[in-house]
Formats: sequence, structure tokens, C-alpha cells
Amino acid sequence: MTYPDVPFPGLPPEQEALFAAAAATYARYRPGVPDGAVHLLADILRDRSTPVLLDLGTGTGQVPLALRSAVPALAHIEAVDVSPQMLDQARDALVPVLGRCTLTLVHAVADAYAPLAPLPGEEVRAPDLVTCCRSYHWMDGPGVLAMADRVAAPDAAVAIMGDGSLWTHDADWTRALRELIQHYLGSKRRAGTDNSYTEPRRSYEEDLTASAWSDVTEHRIPVARTWTPERVLGYLGTTSFASPELFGERHAAFEEAARALLHSLASDGSLVEHSVFTVLLAQRPERAS
Ligand SMILES: C[S@@+](CC[C@H](N)C(=O)[O-])C[C@H]1O[C@@H](n2cnc3c(N)ncnc32)[C@H](O)[C@@H]1O
Repeated sequence: MTYPDVPFPGLPPEQEALFAAAAATYARYRPGVPDGAVHLLADILRDRSTPVLLDLGTGTGQVPLALRSAVPALAHIEAVDVSPQMLDQARDALVPVLGRCTLTLVHAVADAYAPLAPLPGEEVRAPDLVTCCRSYHWMDGPGVLAMADRVAAPDAAVAIMGDGSLWTHDADWTRALRELIQHYLGSKRRAGTDNSYTEPRRSYEEDLTASAWSDVTEHRIPVARTWTPERVLGYLGTTSFASPELFGERHAAFEEAARALLHSLASDGSLVEHSVFTVLLAQRPERAS
């Protein structure tokens, strides 16, 4: 099921449009969640009889999809996103693999999320794990952590995780690509058509330490990814720093230049990214072991 179907206070329309436009191609071009991170999260849920996952900024459902297969006992998924188009993609990806696990899709800004009141006789399914994968920076972080404290099970964990982007990655080919994007769009990193990117005020770790989830452990998982030039171009189309709308009429010219550049820098048609996927795993202090 998806709820609610009434308007709610949300993101600026321009940001919602960005996610709506990326939804159809996002799952195809964005890297998934690395196995090391999936195992870490699965371990948290392993000893629970009917584990419940709350995934915030679920996008096309990459986190629930990975945990559905890693945690056979997973009983319920609550997947929240501000973009109905992303939720449609998540539904298409998750429904075929649900089995006995139930799914609720929630169209909401994460900090305003509240579970549906249970029907008479139904038990409350408080989340055992609350995840934010590549999405926390879009959200009201302290508001999200306070919400998680209101809704999560007493011994729940929160995971804020993600990796850098091809904008931040430091290799010859990503540097050259970034310079090409800057040639077209200006030196500042863009974050949609009206905004430039601003660094977070506080680190995620500082947000956690200042919240109810102050027992924090950082896990750094090395990841090596191999890209083809076409895959990089597809990926760029899903980002806020190089989406087609930013280039307007010059998009075809940019793509042609980027394709030529990437082919010239590829070795045997491949471009390698060595990156680190970071998981900040947090619990309420009195429950941390
Ligand atoms: C970069 S995608 C990450 C998707 C997914 N978690 C993954 O790792 O592939 C960010 C997602 O967060 C959603 N989002 C952004 N701001 C949000 C907010 N305040 N509340 C809920 N979802 C939000 C976007 O619609 C988008 O689907």
C-alpha cells in the first residue's frame, strides 16, 4: 500500500522534479549497496524474530531489495520517499521478491514520517533498523533522527550510509570529467537547476552524537567499480550535478564531448573507480553493547 494520498509539506518543487526525472533510469545506472554493507545491516536484524526495516529516501528500493534477500525472516518493510515516481520504481522492484514480507510505501518527507495507527487487534511494528542510504544529505537530519527516536524499537539501530559520487572521486578520468562539466556549467557544483551544492553544516557523525543515537561506529567498506563510458553517461543523467536539464540545449554537445573524453581515458573500454562506502551505525547509548 502507499499512503498518504493528500498533499504534505515537502521539498521545493524544483528538487522534487529532479528526483521525478531521475526515477526511471536511477535503478539502471546507480551502483547498488555493496555486499559488505548488506552483511553489516543483515547482522543487526539476524536475531530478531520478525524484523522490521524503515528505509528513508528509499529511491528505487535498493536497500530493502538487498536486505530482503540477505534476511529471509524480514517481516515488514516501510519505504519512505518524497518522490512518487521513485516509490513506483521501488514497488516494481520489491513486489516480485516480497514473499511473506509485507511492504508499505510512504510518500512523505522523512522527518515528518509517522507510521499508520494499527487497526484494532493489530500489533505495532516498530522498526528494528532505520536506514538512510545516499539520502541523508537531502533531509532535515536532526529532524529525521528525532523522528527515528519516536518510532523505532527500543533496541533499534540507525544506519546513515553512502559513498562519494563521480564528482568527488579523485582519479584522472573523474577529474577530467568534472572539468568538462565545469566548462559547461560553471565551476560550482550544481545541485539542480536553481541551486549550487552546499556542504553540510555538521558532519553526519556530529548530528548522530547530538541526537538520541549517540553511540556511533563508523564502518568503511572499500569498493572497486568498473564503468563503461556509456554507463557513466547514464549515471550522470541521474545526478543533481550533471542532469540533462542543467545543460539545456547544450546537453547533446556535452554528451558528445564527454563520450569522446571517457573513451580516450578508458583502458580496454573500462574506467575504474576505487571508492569507500561508509556506514555510520548508531544506537541509543543505553542499548549499545
Ligand atoms: C540519491 S537517492 C538514494 C536512493 C536510495 N536510498 C539508494 O541508495 O539508491 C535519494 C532519494 O531520497 C529521496 N529524498 C530526498 N529528500 C527526501 C526527504 N526529505 N524525505 C524523503 N525522501 C527524500 C529522493 O526522492 C531520492 O529518491
